[in-house]
Amino acid sequence: MDKILVRGGKPLRGSIPISGAKNATLPAMAASLLTSDRVHLTNIPHLRDVTTMVELLGQHGCGITIDEKLGVEVDGAGVNNCRAPYDLVRTMRASILVMGPLLARHGHAEISLPGGCAIGSRPVDIHLSGLEKMGATIELSGGYIRASAKRLRGAIIPMNLVTVTGTENLMMAASLAQGQTILENAAREPEVVDLANCLNRMGARISGAGSSTITIDGVDTLHGCTHAILPDRIETGTFMVAGAITGGDVTLTGADPETLTDPIIRLRECGVGIDTGPDWIRVRGPSRPVAIDLETQPYPGFPTDLQAQMMVLMTLAPGDSRIVETIFENRFMHVSELQRLGADIRIAGNTAYVRGVDHLLGAPVMATDLRASASLVLAGLVARGETLLSRVYHIDRGYERIEEKFLALGANIQRLSN
Ligand code: UD1
Repeated sequence: MDKILVRGGKPLRGSIPISGAKNATLPAMAASLLTSDRVHLTNIPHLRDVTTMVELLGQHGCGITIDEKLGVEVDGAGVNNCRAPYDLVRTMRASILVMGPLLARHGHAEISLPGGCAIGSRPVDIHLSGLEKMGATIELSGGYIRASAKRLRGAIIPMNLVTVTGTENLMMAASLAQGQTILENAAREPEVVDLANCLNRMGARISGAGSSTITIDGVDTLHGCTHAILPDRIETGTFMVAGAITGGDVTLTGADPETLTDPIIRLRECGVGIDTGPDWIRVRGPSRPVAIDLETQPYPGFPTDLQAQMMVLMTLAPGDSRIVETIFENRFMHVSELQRLGADIRIAGNTAYVRGVDHLLGAPVMATDLRASASLVLAGLVARGETLLSRVYHIDRGYERIEEKFLALGANIQRLSN
């Protein structure tokens, strides 16, 4: 299994391109199941989760062409299997995104229940009750969700919690339903808007994406389209923290500052210099960051997917900071690893109390989930001495060639393969 070795202490300098967003790519690929035409997606990131989605669509019967220019074309004409097997779903929970499209176009879907994961129990009850409101029959047996419906009907669906993939699943299903669907308390994430744009290019009639009420007027068929995936705001935020924490000067190109309004405000409060243009962000790190309090919230609030990275910044900010995780109940696994590097962090319930230390000291650490592992690389970049990160496969799920991008910024980092 690969490891990443980081020797800390070099301020990062230079410019790197931001990749397409993983969390917009996966739903757009799933949306291709809604049509028998070809859906051509560009600006696709080269990630393990994308490969898993290619595998999943392939076993459903889709034809898939990948070009060398970060494009994927999915041909859904030959779909002949509506079962998403346990072996794929357990490696990527976002596999649940094929449920809405398969049910809407083929009348049934059989999806392995995702089960627990490192960052909490993560149920899918809101996806299921929404589909039931649209007339689907849902059964759970043998570890599988079995959903069936002759044709889904439009419905008013109030969602008691903001769920990103739940909103996406229901929006895709409703696109081919008979009549109008209204999703209330919908997720407002930019990736939801990107999916709505992609679906509208396919002939769907969706309005209100980006607000908490989304209206979908169902159509009989959808057609192919070409759609460019939006930039990854979580990758962008991760490299912004990297520039900040190393006292560096980093420019991120092909980024979308509008999707990072809150993180930019919060980083400025930490003393980080940030300039933005239409598609770039320049970050200049302070000599020492300023401690701030932070609470994760659904978009447009501070993203849970950047919580671990911000915590690393706070470990070096003189004074006290309080970080509250409101989205996932068990998303502090990075804390024990950061403590091994000398961070002073105490957890009580869903709150982490961080007291800034003078410096971190390199040590062997273990990646536990995708964003937690990115935060450990950031810690390694600023820690004195060597940090050896194992279980790097977690990072490869969501960051494209992370060590190559850091190398381009002058970091002392290498991947060790064995
Ligand atoms: C998506 C993102 C993930 C991000 C998360 C929150 C993708 C592929 N993944 O995950 O990177 O961390 O949004 O921004 O886009 N919940 C329920 N019942 C449900 C659905 C969700 O109780 O049916 C709960 C979850 O357990 C969690 C909260 O709602 O506590 C939000 O989860 P959700 O937005 O659904 O996360 P994902 O869509 O899985």
